[in-house]
Amino acid sequence: MTAQIISGNEVAKSIRAEIKAEVAKLKQSGIEPGLVVIIVGEDPASQVYVRKKGEACNELGICSETLRLPATTTEDELLKVIDQYNENSKFDGILVQLPLPKHISEEKVLIRIDPSKDVDGFHPINVGKLVVGAESYKPCTPHGVQELLMRSGNDPAGKHVVVLGRSNIVGKPVACILVQKAKGADATVTICHSRTKNLSEITRQADILIAAIGSPNFVKADMVKDGVVVIDVGVNRINDPAAKGGCRLVGDVDFEAVKEKAKAITPVPGGVGPMTITMLMKNTVHAAKIHHKYKE
Ligand code: GUN
Repeated sequence: MTAQIISGNEVAKSIRAEIKAEVAKLKQSGIEPGLVVIIVGEDPASQVYVRKKGEACNELGICSETLRLPATTTEDELLKVIDQYNENSKFDGILVQLPLPKHISEEKVLIRIDPSKDVDGFHPINVGKLVVGAESYKPCTPHGVQELLMRSGNDPAGKHVVVLGRSNIVGKPVACILVQKAKGADATVTICHSRTKNLSEITRQADILIAAIGSPNFVKADMVKDGVVVIDVGVNRINDPAAKGGCRLVGDVDFEAVKEKAKAITPVPGGVGPMTITMLMKNTVHAAKIHHKYKE
């Protein structure tokens, strides 16, 4: 079987064109969506993500600010910064890049963000809304996974989706989104994790397999059935003396082997990655509409 390679780059490009047109329309009504991205410390991967978020804002005409705070910033100082942006009407979205340094409580920080500016969808109020199926900000990576499935012609309705990983950023919210009684969802969902017994028996039942565990090339060909649709959320840096810079990115799925059995599969890089930032842009525009009570 020749697998369909689902290009996140292509899908993200067409969604970004839609968002760009929407931003231009909002600006005609005097509304300029704004996003502030706050990063604490020097984590190299986070630095790259934050830079890309700023670039995406520029590309789409969204006003953005990146606040870089030293790793020594205290929890209180960060909370005060968040309070200031909560009050600042120039910014519709506030994103605090995770992970935070160990001395800062992620929970306290996320709950401090005004839920109407929580474009990450991580505030407990928005998580709760997601669970009950109310309108809320969908977390960016899970929302990107859903859009990739839909726009590549792989509607999850009625399918058995197996999610590998139970993180608050990907595993749990993606399961929650896909199990809803809604368009782009209606799946039967199983969540697997590090304590799951007979993992391969479960993954082999998947019509759609979503891997988000952060373990390079973890999913092997004998763990999937023929015709599976694979969404690889993993971004793992592995040493490779032959690669530029001595390392390269791989996903959680052994792409070369699994693509021989799959109906469709996302590559790494160029799969889920570009979708995450695109959905952040979408949430920021949505936030601006809410704040300005904009009617279509
Ligand atoms: N770190 C890894 N993914 C994310 C994300 O989606 N949002 C934030 N804020 N931090 C992250």
